[in-house]
Parts: sequence; structure tokens; C-alpha cells
Amino acid sequence: MQKKQELYSGKAKSVFATDNEDYVVLSFRDDTSAFDGEKVEQLNRKGMVNNKFNAFIMQYLADKGIPTHFEALLNDTESLVKNMKMVPVECVVRNVASGSLVRRLGVEDGLELNPPVFEFFLKNDALHDPMINEYHIETFGWAKAEDISKMKELTFKVNEHLQKLFADAGMILVDYKLEFGLFKGEIYLGDEFSPDGCRLWDAETRKKLDKDRFRQGLGGVIEAYEEVAQRIGVKL
Ligand code: CDP
Repeated sequence: MQKKQELYSGKAKSVFATDNEDYVVLSFRDDTSAFDGEKVEQLNRKGMVNNKFNAFIMQYLADKGIPTHFEALLNDTESLVKNMKMVPVECVVRNVASGSLVRRLGVEDGLELNPPVFEFFLKNDALHDPMINEYHIETFGWAKAEDISKMKELTFKVNEHLQKLFADAGMILVDYKLEFGLFKGEIYLGDEFSPDGCRLWDAETRKKLDKDRFRQGLGGVIEAYEEVAQRIGVKL
């Protein structure tokens, strides 16, 4: 597989074409951003840690029957993935109240949510990723009704598997965001799963082990990501 020209560069990852139009190279950079790109820093080793973390999780989910875009780990910071048409929607599941839910509804941070809460957001930094529902997605043509149901179903299935994976390693999966895309007409899990896009707390101490350390300037960001990786058995 030969890596070709850069197709797209996002806030933390870049996408490169390959000599096969069905596949692209996902390149994980050290850039770390928050607040719709307002806070940006370079964190040493982050590209490597997230690339390997994501490869581990994507393979774990594929083993559980979740269709993912992941094909192969290429090197420390790059993976080969399916060339998908991304659905511009973020799927969020919350097991514990935190972040924007707390700000929006005034509920207590750390409140257990039973059943878990599901939310859709439009992927649009300029509009600050507004919350949307199934009607907006269908009406504005961001995805078809059957694909919306599929994304929701898969996001909940991921919750079952990952809640257990992290719980067995002494952590609480507070919430997470997934993105999906279409490849040859079918929905696949895309983007990445790493501590950049979820909240993970130590089950005993409730220490934050995710990007909230960066958002809140708590320090030890990559050290926390590495601790999570080590606890679930990711080889860095
Ligand atoms: O992170 P923030 O408080 O602004 O938003 P949230 O709605 O509480 O985020 C819910 C979960 O989705 C958290 O784990 C975020 O890290 C993740 N998320 C993300 O990865 N990317 C976004 N653009 C928004 C949320």
C-alpha cells in the first residue's frame, strides 16, 4: 500500500490517499485541541498513544461483531482504514452525567444515568456542534433513517462492550463520542476511540484519565492516557 497525497487535515488527525481508492491512511498527530479548536497544544507521544489505543479498541470491537473502518496498524502514528463518506453527526452515550449535560440541564456532575442517555450532535465547529435529533438528520439529508437507527444501535452495543472492558480494568466509562461513515453503502464505525473522545474515571478515586485533564489544565494528560492503555493491555 503506497501512501499518496494528503486529502484532509483535521484538528488531531490527517488523512492521506493510497494507491487503492478504497483505503486511506489515518495519521495521528500530537496536536491536541479543545473548545472547538480554541485551545490547541502539542502533546508529546499523543499521536502514537492514540493510534495504538484506537487500533486496540477497533480490533476489540470488530471481534465483538461491530463493523469498523479499521484495517491495519501501519506504524507508530498511522493506521490504514476504509475510505468512507463520513456522516457529519456525533453519537454520544452517557453513563454518568458530566460535561455539557451538566452545563445544559444543571444536573449533578457524577450522577449515574440509568438508562444511559443518547445524544446526537452536528459536527460543525463554527456552530459549536449543536445538539440535533433524528428529524434534523433525516430532513437535512445528513443520513437516511435506516442508517440513523444503525448508528444508534451500534453506539449502544459499543457501550456494552467497552463499559465492561474498562470496568474490568478499574475504570468507569462516563461518556464517549462515536462517528460513523458509509463504505459501499453500509454503515461502519469510523474516526477513533481514544481518551480524546471519551471520559474515563478511576473507579475508586474518580481521578480523570481522559481529555478533561487537558480541557481543565490538570496536567499529566499523556501519562493518564498511557495509564489507561497499560491497564487494558494496549502495547505502546
Ligand atoms: O466535552 P464537552 O463537555 O464539551 O461535551 P460533552 O457533550 O459533554 O461530550 C460528551 C463526550 O463526547 C465526551 O467524552 C467528549 O470527550 C466527547 N466529545 C468529543 O469527543 N468530541 C466532541 N466534539 C464533543 C464531545
